[in-house]
Amino acid sequence: RSVIKILEEKIKSEGVVLGSDILKVDSFLNHQVDPFLMSQIGQAFADKFSQAGITKVLTIEASGIAPALMTSLQLQVPMVFARKHKSRTLSGNFYTASVYSFTKQTENKIAISKKFINADDRVLIIDDFLANGQAVQGLLDITSQAGATAVGVGIVIEKRFQAGHDLILSKNIPLVSLASIDHFQDGQVVFNNEGAA
Ligand code: G4P
Ligand code: NA
Ligand code: NA
Repeated sequence: RSVIKILEEKIKSEGVVLGSDILKVDSFLNHQVDPFLMSQIGQAFADKFSQAGITKVLTIEASGIAPALMTSLQLQVPMVFARKHKSRTLSGNFYTASVYSFTKQTENKIAISKKFINADDRVLIIDDFLANGQAVQGLLDITSQAGATAVGVGIVIEKRFQAGHDLILSKNIPLVSLASIDHFQDGQVVFNNEGAA
């Protein structure tokens, strides 16, 4: 079975829909981590971007780290995770960006040391969820501050009904989302490709 099918089945069997727009997947992605699934996810992203000359995989702590690390292992390049800082701890040696969370209604600073991203880098951004795209937007902001090139974005689970998908496509950056949720219906997940395949 393809990693997409395995992931979709795992979401159906273990995911819990909370309210109108949140999917809880604590058993394999956001708390406990399934390392075998994560390794297949890394392989899938690496396959998609194998010809893109990626030199670095970027994500944000904490939940992006597992899929990003597996991807970087397959591509044989470093993985860098942006840290979520309190502003007083930031110094001039970091690129920083503001990430607004609509879910939590908080504004967070993220930071990556200037040592670990530079103008020669060709960056693949990986994250666990794509909702409104603000986390990816923050990483794109830092990538551009460094003069590096954003080559693509890989997402484990996207919620297609939120704004992030279209935001990334509007920037003409290739987006690979393994599981694409069209909507939630009566507490169940409906994938984008359902009925199509
Ligand atoms: P955005 O980056 O797409 O704009 O996401 P948003 O602000 O809406 O989400 C804030 C946090 O919630 C992010 O994690 C994001 O990954 C996560 N998130 C968004 N939608 C869902 C969902 O339906 N299910 C789950 N499980 N998470 C979701 P974070 O605050 O960066 O936390 P961490 O888990 O990476 O530490
Ligand atoms: Na995340
Ligand atoms: Na998260």
